[in-house]
Amino acid sequence: MPDPTTQSNYLEISTFHVHFDWSVDFEKEAISGSATHKLIAASDDVNEVVFDTAELDIVGAEVAGQTTEISIGKKHDVMGSALHVYFANPIKKGVEVEVKVFYSTTKASTALQWLNKEQTQGKQFPYLFSQCQPIYARAMAPVQDTPSLKITYSASVASILPVLLSARRVFPPSESTHDGKVIGKDVVTYVYDQPVAIPSYLIAIAVGNVRYRAFPKIDSRGWTSGVWAEPELIDAAYWEFSEDTGRFLAKEEDVVGQYRFGVYDVLVLPPSFPYGGMENACLSFVTPTLLTGDRTLVDVVVHEMTHSWFGNGVTHAEASHFWLNEGWTNYIERLLQYFLHGEAARGFSFIIGSSALHQALENYGDRPKYQRLVIEFDYGEDPDDAYSSVAYEKGSNFIYYLEGVLGGLNAFLPYVRDYVSTFMGQSITTWDWKAHLLAYFEKNGTKGQQEALRNVDWNAWFYGEGLKLPVTLVYDDTLAKPPYALAEKWDRARTVDTSALPFKTEDVASFDGNQKVVFLERLATFPTLPSSHTLLLGQIYTFDSSPNAEVRLRFYNLALKDPASEVARKLAEPAIRWVTGKDGTGMIKGRMKFCRPIFLAVSKVNAALAKHYFEENKDLFHPIARKLIEKVGAFFQVVKPKSLN
Ligand code: BES
Ligand code: ZN
Repeated sequence: MPDPTTQSNYLEISTFHVHFDWSVDFEKEAISGSATHKLIAASDDVNEVVFDTAELDIVGAEVAGQTTEISIGKKHDVMGSALHVYFANPIKKGVEVEVKVFYSTTKASTALQWLNKEQTQGKQFPYLFSQCQPIYARAMAPVQDTPSLKITYSASVASILPVLLSARRVFPPSESTHDGKVIGKDVVTYVYDQPVAIPSYLIAIAVGNVRYRAFPKIDSRGWTSGVWAEPELIDAAYWEFSEDTGRFLAKEEDVVGQYRFGVYDVLVLPPSFPYGGMENACLSFVTPTLLTGDRTLVDVVVHEMTHSWFGNGVTHAEASHFWLNEGWTNYIERLLQYFLHGEAARGFSFIIGSSALHQALENYGDRPKYQRLVIEFDYGEDPDDAYSSVAYEKGSNFIYYLEGVLGGLNAFLPYVRDYVSTFMGQSITTWDWKAHLLAYFEKNGTKGQQEALRNVDWNAWFYGEGLKLPVTLVYDDTLAKPPYALAEKWDRARTVDTSALPFKTEDVASFDGNQKVVFLERLATFPTLPSSHTLLLGQIYTFDSSPNAEVRLRFYNLALKDPASEVARKLAEPAIRWVTGKDGTGMIKGRMKFCRPIFLAVSKVNAALAKHYFEENKDLFHPIARKLIEKVGAFFQVVKPKSLN
């Protein structure tokens, strides 16, 4: 089955290398230039190459240096417009051809967000960044936009501001800011090279007033690592990540195999970045909300670096097998927590994940297909509609379960290494993964392990729907016990008068941010507390003003849970002001994990309020976030039906 989210003819002829020659124009808000593809035909008599594009201005194309005929197909809502580049002479199997497309991006590009200077930390220079996963690379450049293909790339990018790409930097050196020229004025051409073949969704660009600081070098490792951020944030960013990044990366190499990308840098983006993190090759993008000053959210960096093996190395062949990326990454991220901080830390991560899973499964109650681990996508179906914790949590629990039934880590880790080395550099499906697992234990396993694999209910794991995992798993709950106990204490105190409540600020003094999250999530599973209790709880534990966005989100989730309650009516506006940056910070919460549930919850309390804040602030959000807030935006239904106008 070909990838259902691309219109390209990648099975007939496919790119193996692309060179971008770009110039970044902040006035026009456009990247313009060319993409030169090196392709190889996989069958005889190939007459054309078809690229995916979305909202690009295509100027023309050349085949082997000669101008050629092109045509652009009708726009598909999800997949965009197919660009056909015709060959004057049909191409035979195995023959290589060079195709150059001249084009420019447009303001309608879903991949790119152009920020004006007020939307940055420094407020002096504009900023541009991309987000290409799952299917937006086509809105940045004409490509065969499927993770089934792995391509190398190189680029020259001319810009008045420093340029970062998901590749190795050739010129100028990372330490040299804008090659010594005047930032914001002089044009510098940045040169990058990505010699490791990657899927198109890992192509990425960020352009802005950024600085680099190297992390301490770790002996005898073949890579460098450091952090990028605007100058105003570089100290905080360095502090947050410098201790852990190298340690985790080194441990990960020892556990799963060599790091192949040469450079592992982290870029802290402006607050509209729509994800917690994105594993762009050589350069993970992360949200600035990770800078909590206590290093409690570094697990996001560990997650993104883990994709270097699971996702960027061994890649899901298409959206249906997305869990291979995220489930494996989640499992390994937690395994590293185990190696560096013990089983309690790993169990705790699984516990945090299980409430996210439960929520996601509940949200998909009306679309049970998306409750599955393996989702068979229809042609042209939007993978963003299926994006949820299911792939992460069902996936990692499945692997954790296999670890257990196969005899624990000592028995399991050699298999993990074999899995990675077998498929490194390839794109695979769930069926490739399963066949290898069975074959591995057939060859190397004991009778007991083979028996255990025969007893796995594969169908239940792959296609199971509903709110439960096929098997109930137990996790180390040492770290969850104190927050659980406190939640139960609040639950028992529901009938106590607020003036007599036995709670004090110190109750949470020993909790880290994640334990506060677990406390609030546990509390949200109980019947709604009296509004006065919830309000008080927010105040005495300062959750209602927490600078930790994970904590703040859980508090608002709790407070807005019952839309008719007094606390929901009181806190709806503070909540929406928080995500839109109208809380005095001027920082929107562009990460979709934060803004989407708040818009949804507030719309249930007061639809007009949600709509008002959305309309007023929507341009601050990334195009993807805007699209998805609008999609879940039940709050737009308050508009009067047309017939009444
Ligand atoms: N690759 C994902 C982000 C993504 C997935 C973007 C699908 C677009 C489509 C990234 O690795 C990720 O999982 N981010 C999480 C981090 C978390 C699980 C630690 C996020 O942003 O919440
Ligand atoms: Zn991920």
